[in-house]
Amino acid sequence: MEASRSPGSGRLNFDTTFRYGRTTNSDCPGAAELLPNPSRGCPAVEETFLNRMGLSWRSAAALMGVHSLGRAKIENSGFHGWWSDPINSRLFNNDYFVSLISKGWVPETSVHTRTVKSQWGRSDVQRDLSFDGHEMMLDTDLCLAFAEGPNRRALTPVLSSIHDCCAWVNFAVGGARCGNRRQCCGGQNADDCGRPGNPSGPAAAHVLEFGNNEQAWIREFKTAWTRATENGAQGLKSLEPDTPATSVPSPVPPIATPVPTVAPAPTPATAAPSPVPPIATPSPTVAPAPTPIPASTPEPTRRGKKGRGRKRRRLKRNIGRK
Ligand code: HEM
Repeated sequence: MEASRSPGSGRLNFDTTFRYGRTTNSDCPGAAELLPNPSRGCPAVEETFLNRMGLSWRSAAALMGVHSLGRAKIENSGFHGWWSDPINSRLFNNDYFVSLISKGWVPETSVHTRTVKSQWGRSDVQRDLSFDGHEMMLDTDLCLAFAEGPNRRALTPVLSSIHDCCAWVNFAVGGARCGNRRQCCGGQNADDCGRPGNPSGPAAAHVLEFGNNEQAWIREFKTAWTRATENGAQGLKSLEPDTPATSVPSPVPPIATPVPTVAPAPTPATAAPSPVPPIATPSPTVAPAPTPIPASTPEPTRRGKKGRGRKRRRLKRNIGRK
């Protein structure tokens, strides 16, 4: 899988760390209640990732970086928008962190007259004004970096339903920044969420670091991903280095399989992230797909040359019939 802010400049290999063999359950009673509720913000992140899964804020933030991929849809979750721009929403890279901190965000409950659940809409002058290109952050995303309160000593992680403020910073992250207050907050009169020079959410330092340093994010993400996919499982097995990943009888989604550059999101089976099962393939409506790098999946060995010859002849015959 490619992991980089520019296609082609970095490969991410999960094969060496991925272990398979978890039991697949046909049902999971009460699972919906165990998933973090986006509208509860950081208490929900803390409860799920820190208290239940034993992750640190740093690991939890790293895991949330998967929101660089994909989008939210009103018909699925009640939220609407992408966490990033059209190109980056198709790349497994650190743009979630760059987006979160270097753009401006204000609370919103509607997008182009369509009602949405309370979320943060992009507010800076460079935002895409179309409905399909809308960018947003959930409370559980933005709270990682931003906190708000009556004074410096009484800050709580932001919640769009109660904090009517503009989240922005006055410095660059990952080489990007939204500009000055007017440029970042789109002329809104709302207060700043905390101090623009020093965002104070519980994972702010990590969000900044991951935005500036993609390799640091990938290192932490691998640790967090291992925890998320191995929690509570025993007797897991490693993939053999020279075994084609496609032929491994894994009961979990094939995240270890080499996948195209602009991979669909690795939807975790055990740590299902959203209140609804995310559709693995981000919709291509706003983004021209960057050229995928073909996965080097070897031809399955069961079908020999003869079998392929027969299939080709059959195909030719069928085409001839049409
Ligand atoms: C506090 C934790 C989280 C919350 C509240 C949350 C919530 C959501 C919501 C509301 C959506 C939009 C669903 C839709 O409308 O279709 C979504 C999408 C998504 N989530 Fe999360 N999520 C969380 C953590 C994670 C984690 C840890 C991962 C992966 C490691 C992840 C991966 C994804 C992906 C890939 C999508 C996009 C799906 C698509 O494009 O169809 N999420 N999440």
